[in-house]
Amino acid sequence: MIRKLKGENPAFVLDTQNTSYAFRIMETGQPEHLYYGAKITVNDVADLEALSEKRAFQQGNSIAYDQEHLSFTLEDVSLEMSGYGKGDIREPFVEVVAADGSFTTDFVYESDEIKSGKTELKTLPSSFGDDVEGLHVTFKDKNNGYTIILSYYVFEKEDVITRTAKFINSSSATVSLRRLMSTQVDFNEAGLIVSTFRGAWIKEMQMVDTKVSAGKFVNSSFTGSSSNRANPFIMVSREGAGEYQGDVYGFNLIYSGNHYEAVEVNAYDKTRVVTGINPTQFNFSLKPGDEFEAPEAVMTFSKDGHNGMSQNMHAFVNDHIVRGEWSKKARPVLLNSWEANYFDINEGKLVALAKKGKEVGVELFVMDDGWFGDRHDDKRALGDWFVNTKKLPHGVKGLAEKINNVGLDFGIWIEPEMVNVDSDLYRAHPDWAIEIPGKHHSEGRNQRILDFANPEVVDYMIKSMKDVISSGNIAYVKWDMNRIFSDVYSQYLPEDCQGEVFHRYIMGFYRLAKELTESFPKVLFEGCASGGNRFDLGALCYFPQIWASDDTDAVARLTIQNGYSYGYPMSCVSAHVSNVPNHQTLRKVDIEHRFAVACFGVLGYECNLSDMKKEDLSAIKEQIETYKKFRECMQFGDFYRGKFGNVVEWTVVSKDKKQAVGMIFQKEVRPNSPFLDYHAKGLDPLKKYHFYSKEAKVSIKMFGDLVNGVTPIHIKQDGFLHGLIDKFVTPKGDVEDYTAYGDALMNAGVGLKPAFSSTGFDMEGSVRIMHDHNARLYFMEEVQ
Ligand code: DGJ
Repeated sequence: MIRKLKGENPAFVLDTQNTSYAFRIMETGQPEHLYYGAKITVNDVADLEALSEKRAFQQGNSIAYDQEHLSFTLEDVSLEMSGYGKGDIREPFVEVVAADGSFTTDFVYESDEIKSGKTELKTLPSSFGDDVEGLHVTFKDKNNGYTIILSYYVFEKEDVITRTAKFINSSSATVSLRRLMSTQVDFNEAGLIVSTFRGAWIKEMQMVDTKVSAGKFVNSSFTGSSSNRANPFIMVSREGAGEYQGDVYGFNLIYSGNHYEAVEVNAYDKTRVVTGINPTQFNFSLKPGDEFEAPEAVMTFSKDGHNGMSQNMHAFVNDHIVRGEWSKKARPVLLNSWEANYFDINEGKLVALAKKGKEVGVELFVMDDGWFGDRHDDKRALGDWFVNTKKLPHGVKGLAEKINNVGLDFGIWIEPEMVNVDSDLYRAHPDWAIEIPGKHHSEGRNQRILDFANPEVVDYMIKSMKDVISSGNIAYVKWDMNRIFSDVYSQYLPEDCQGEVFHRYIMGFYRLAKELTESFPKVLFEGCASGGNRFDLGALCYFPQIWASDDTDAVARLTIQNGYSYGYPMSCVSAHVSNVPNHQTLRKVDIEHRFAVACFGVLGYECNLSDMKKEDLSAIKEQIETYKKFRECMQFGDFYRGKFGNVVEWTVVSKDKKQAVGMIFQKEVRPNSPFLDYHAKGLDPLKKYHFYSKEAKVSIKMFGDLVNGVTPIHIKQDGFLHGLIDKFVTPKGDVEDYTAYGDALMNAGVGLKPAFSSTGFDMEGSVRIMHDHNARLYFMEEVQ
């Protein structure tokens, strides 16, 4: 609920179910931030007096606002928005250069409006929802007459508040907008912990905590995308906050380009958080009457730790970001050709692979890179979006028919934002690539970025991609993007608009994504950018799921998927089981343990099933059956993190709390450590559950020459007799099978069978044999 409290100057209180956000307009006209956190009771303006900061004298060598307000320095006030030049020397919200070259702005309150409903941004994707209220406060710059409208939206149920800003050049001259942030939250304290998610290719979303007691900490991307280097999602917590307790704020941005999150502590121990478009190389020229929209920023708060914050973000993304046909629809189990064949594909190979997929229960077959133009490697043909008939003699249409006849849906890979120099498209339109004519150009995967700041290029690609997607019975599109920006220059824009290229590119990308997703509403689009180089809320407005990382190694994926789970629901995170040795790490993890990690998300397979052992194929068949039984829960249930150390513990619970799946994954064996328990999360405390696992696979060969301890004759390890015994004697693997109430499973936990500790093994499954990189899955179903 949004309330305007009447007083000499207006004040505003924004309430969600469990949080409150308050600010007021000061005597001097600037908006003073009063509070953001756990819900508080405020009935009228007088109730805000207690919590507002008191001022009585001029502070040292700070700037007083003016003669009438000598005790008032903007440097030491919590503000909703700030400019440069009037005494606030912290990170600004807005920076604009006037026609006379001056940078100083002073935005003061003009009017406000509370409206129900969510207004869509005109130039960028934004959240949606029916039951949303918006507050729009207009400010006028005293120096030059510019206008800024700050918009706030309240999503009560999810405990989310979003903010955006619009700059209108209501002056009579052309100006340069150097930055316009999306949100600014000032805290009256220092020493907050900022959690960011850094990484690079195949090691996305590595969480790092930084305590900011002084100076400035910046999380940002300058790759042209939201990037795997620094995801735009961050957390800000009070010291002592943990997974299930303590104050945690979450911030994210509905934007896929260069972003910027700065956390700055000033001389008075106040912390400012700003998030928005990265101001580096950003410079928008705005003529009189022109407007500029900042991306929508998403904010949430929970006093129940990181998990409470994550639950809010997950609900918000599922209900107010992901849209269209697939937003709540069960996602198919897919088989992707990339790690099976890389570029070496043809109709015969693909159909053979699809048949194998069908046998094990796959529902969708995806032809990855290599199907078009002269594409035999990553050096050529991007941009030439016509089928390679040597590889696919019956075209995309013919292949799709064949795959459909196998009984699978068919999906295709595209990379519409890129061009190879060695392509017909580049030869015809060299000026369509982002590069500085006549200057040395740096390389990234042998490709260049198409200039989406040029509307003609976007129009061309809309047409090309519509032709591709309608060229056969295509049910799924994987939209890839494999280069980060360098040598940034648009040959379409004039010299003085080159500071607009990054942002105009992103607006072009969104136009293409909107056109295609709206033209093919039934098609499931999956985002991808060398894995997770563009995993953000902007992309999720068009692509319901994103290929989270090119790393398919189960151990590496633990950290990556755990990292995503802080800000994003599992329905968005796609995860594949691949071959071993793993192509990214060369690590070997058995098939059931690879599945245990990949099933926490949107499951797929990416391996050459045609070459796989029979046992692995039957394991996969069983995995897919299990996944389908729990799919709704795995994809749309509530996800909870548990232990995260040598043992990683995850739980996902269906919305009705009737089903849950838990996992423990042990990174390495620790000797003589028999005890381990699993604590469920999120269950209904009063429901009784059947808690069970499937029998773990154990074989005589696992014990090597220890077999001699129980055999009357000597057995040579890996010799004929060893093999024979292994074939006919199968020890039972550990199984857990109990019934218990939800509160017991969560609070007391389940004591698991003891781990093998050199002695004590029997043939009855009383001992848990877990090697390095082994997992167990636990299923919980309500007992009537
Ligand atoms: C990078 C992606 O992340 C991979 O999954 C694959 O699609 C390749 N590109 C294809 O070039």
